[in-house]
Amino acid sequence: MDKIRIIGGAPLKGVIPISGAKNAALPLMAACLLTDETLHLANVPYLADIVTMAKLLAQHGVALNTSGDGNRFGRMLSLNAAQVTNFTAPYELVRTMRASVLVLGPLLARFGQARVSLPGGCAIGTRPIDMHLKALQEMGAEIDLQEGYIDARISGRLKGAVIQFDKVSVGATENILMSASLAKGETVIRNAAREPEVCDLAHCLVAMGAKIDGIGSDEIAIQGVESLHGCPYTIIADRVETGSFAAAAAITGGDVELLGARAEHLQAVIATFAEAGIEISETPRGLRVRRANGRVQGVDIMTQPYPAFPPDMQAQMMALLSVAEGASMVTETIFENRFMHVPELTRMGARIVLHGASAMIRGVPQLRGAEVMATDLRASVSLAIAALAAEGETVIHRVYHLDRGYERLEEKLSQCGAQIERLPSGKPTLKSEAA
Ligand code: UD1
Repeated sequence: MDKIRIIGGAPLKGVIPISGAKNAALPLMAACLLTDETLHLANVPYLADIVTMAKLLAQHGVALNTSGDGNRFGRMLSLNAAQVTNFTAPYELVRTMRASVLVLGPLLARFGQARVSLPGGCAIGTRPIDMHLKALQEMGAEIDLQEGYIDARISGRLKGAVIQFDKVSVGATENILMSASLAKGETVIRNAAREPEVCDLAHCLVAMGAKIDGIGSDEIAIQGVESLHGCPYTIIADRVETGSFAAAAAITGGDVELLGARAEHLQAVIATFAEAGIEISETPRGLRVRRANGRVQGVDIMTQPYPAFPPDMQAQMMALLSVAEGASMVTETIFENRFMHVPELTRMGARIVLHGASAMIRGVPQLRGAEVMATDLRASVSLAIAALAAEGETVIHRVYHLDRGYERLEEKLSQCGAQIERLPSGKPTLKSEAA
């Protein structure tokens, strides 16, 4: 398994292009199943999760074509679901990526049947999909759970319904948005997720011919139509990648411009950074991040659904706060078990104590390099952020987690002066060479 070696201390300076948003690209790719015409997606990032979704769609019978950047998906991905022959999303693919469950709604809505493996537990808690299933049942679907699979069927079309979600769920809102677009009659989603990625999906569905009101609010009304058509659509910039590089620039005392980044998707993050003494300002091309003189200041954060502070930025913020002046409290309200970066940051000298869903961080002046283990996507990038400011060498193991969500991380960081390299399996570290 590849590792990443970082030697900390260099302030990041320069320009980093922000890729298309992974969490927008995944549902947008699934949306191709709603039409027999071609969906042309631009700004698709080249990431392991995108490859998994491409494999999943291909085995359903979707024809995929990439253009613009060799074999990379980076520029344009065209998807055509005219010849869907297989309605099963198998365990091998679903277990590697929960977002595979996003094919459930579209397959059911267009073909009246879908068989999708249950995702099972994952590293950041149990993450059930009961809300997706209950809402589809309310729209008339028959759902059985057998041998680890969801078997969903409907004779004729799904029927519009009023769906009242108990919690805010990004994935459930997306699955129902797609299903309702082809349902008979009106569907109203109450307590809908408002994340920019949900809005991106809704905007693309409208471009495909769907009738949707209330995009960006917590109540969305969808008038079902009989069929949707293909269209070109450009995916928004990744707000989590933006926030991650902002934390990296801030922790190193750097000055970085993040090309294509959009402030309106990061208001809560920008406000938190400002409180911590980090300046994020808009430029004609994106956002500029820099730390004024002095140490980062401790702040308290609580993760909540959009537009509040996102759970996908919690680990990166904690890395930054581990070198802040004073204490900080980070509270996670959305996911259980999402503090797996804490023991690893502690190995680097951070002083963090966990109390249930909260972490108390007492800032230290300097972190130290160490061998650490990546455990999930955002936890891994938080270790890279900490390593950029740590004294000496950090080696991050299991970087396949990073490859799920960060495109060309080493290249983007090294262009700004970071000392970072990938060690393909087997290549020795400085420490093992010295031993
Ligand atoms: C998406 C994002 C993920 C982000 C999360 C919250 C993608 C591919 N992933 O995940 O990066 O961290 O939103 O912003 O877009 N829940 C239920 N029952 C359900 C569905 C969800 O109880 O049927 C719970 C979850 O366990 C969690 C909360 O609702 O506690 C929010 O989860 P949800 O918004 O659905 O997350 P995902 O869509 O899986």
